[in-house]
Formats: sequence, C-alpha cells, structure tokens
Amino acid sequence: MEVIICENSKKAAKLTAKMIANAINEMPNLNLGLATGATMEPVYAELVQMNCSGKVDFAGVRTFNLDEYVGLGPNNKNSYRYYMDSNLFDKINILKSSTHLPDGLALDENKECERYDQLIKKLGGIDLQLLGIGNDGHIGFNEPMSSFASKTRVKVLTPETYKQNSIYFNPPESMPKRAYTMGVGTILNSKQIIMLITGKKKANIAAQAIEGPLTSMVTGSAIQLHQNVTVILDEDASSNLKMKDYYNFAFKNNPKWAKYQ
Ligand code: GLP
Repeated sequence: MEVIICENSKKAAKLTAKMIANAINEMPNLNLGLATGATMEPVYAELVQMNCSGKVDFAGVRTFNLDEYVGLGPNNKNSYRYYMDSNLFDKINILKSSTHLPDGLALDENKECERYDQLIKKLGGIDLQLLGIGNDGHIGFNEPMSSFASKTRVKVLTPETYKQNSIYFNPPESMPKRAYTMGVGTILNSKQIIMLITGKKKANIAAQAIEGPLTSMVTGSAIQLHQNVTVILDEDASSNLKMKDYYNFAFKNNPKWAKYQ
C-alpha cells in the first residue's frame, strides 16, 4: 500500500484525477470502477475539465459503479445513476452504453446481482477501482461484518450510513434502507485501487482502514490485502496516521511519484 498525503482536499482530488487520466492515457479501453459521495465530486469536476481541454479521452473507457440504492431509478435525483450522469457522464465523451451501475429498479434482486458480477467478468474485470470510505468504514455499501469474499449483493444499511446519507433526501426518511453493492471480494479482484479520503471527520476511520487491524468491522481495512493500492488523503484526514513521516518520505524518494510532485 502506498499512502500520499496532500496539503489540502483540492490537491488530493487533483492528484486522484491525474492518476485516473494517466491510467486512461496508458490504456484507452480501461475498465474503470467508480464511486459516489461528496468526496468524489471535485475529482469528477477535474476529469471533466481535463476531458474538455483534450488531456484525457473517455471514448474507449468502460465504467462500473460500486453501488446503487434499491428502488431508485435513473430519474431519481438521489440515485447513483443520476449522480454519475450529472457529475461526470453527461459532461465527457463517454458512450452512455459503456457506463454500468446495478439497476436500482430491477425486479429480481438476486438475478441483478448475478448479472452485474457476470458483466464485470465478461468485460475483462476492473483495471482501476476508485474508492471512498463511509464514516462507518464501508467501501461501496459493504457495511461492517461484510465478508471479505463477498460478491455483489443487496445490503441493509447501518443507522450510521442512514444518518450520513439521508441528509441528501427530501424528506430524509425517503432514503432507501437497502442498496446493491459490489462485494469486498469483487473490489479486491480489481487490478488496482485508488482510495481517496478527505476531511477531519474521516481521520479516525482512515487510520483504522490504513493502519488498523484487518477486520470486517471496518471493511475499508480489506485494502490491506490488495497488492496495488494507493491511498490519497488531505492533511485533515491524515491526522491520526502513525506512519505519516514515512509516507511523506516514501512519496518524495520513490522516483515513480516524480511526475506527480
Ligand atoms: C456512500 C457510498 C460510498 C462512499 C461514501 C462516502 O455511502 N456508497 O461508496 O465512499 O458514500 O461518502 P462521502 O464522500 O460523501 O463522505
């Protein structure tokens, strides 16, 4: 795992976008795993800008989102399909047919989970997965006690996640209590992972995921099992990390990061 600490959240989002754009430039038909949440909005804004100024081309890229609320369709402003369309897909030159999320309106939930995992497999697996982290340590919607071997399935959300996300719903109680999510196992199958964590509120959970014990109580800690992970944080989110000096030293002294400094 490599940990990069940026001065502020703007720089962290910029670096994340740059790494994604570089991966696309190296592999124009990249299978890109995407995440939602407020943390990702500046990353998508940056990618939109880079696409408009000709620095990255999404024509050959396929995307797979981590999750979607059960019962919400593309026209619902709180669906993750709506979030992705409005923050990214409608503003870049990607083929809409190449953008994939679980279908929140699917009639058969089990079949939909199976379809999504099969689709990822059939299209060659995920090359680069972008991850955020929830206040309770979840990745995607893999709530505490999700198996590290789990595949795509429907999870009931924790009261903490409900509290964190229902502020976006009007009324808040209209937020679904269940969601489709790629499993922890699905996520670990991707070839590369970038996790972005920003803000003081996340300092404690960031330290647990990065340096804490490997535990399904904090599903974000599962990234410790992956061979190619970069975690990007801002100063605020990094404040509880014990090995901060080492991460900064490694970033400065590993020639592979020279182009990002
Ligand atoms: C949701 C998503 C997660 C995301 C989390 C963090 O719960 N399912 O994938 O990491 O939000 O959200 P925020 O960036 O708003 O803190």
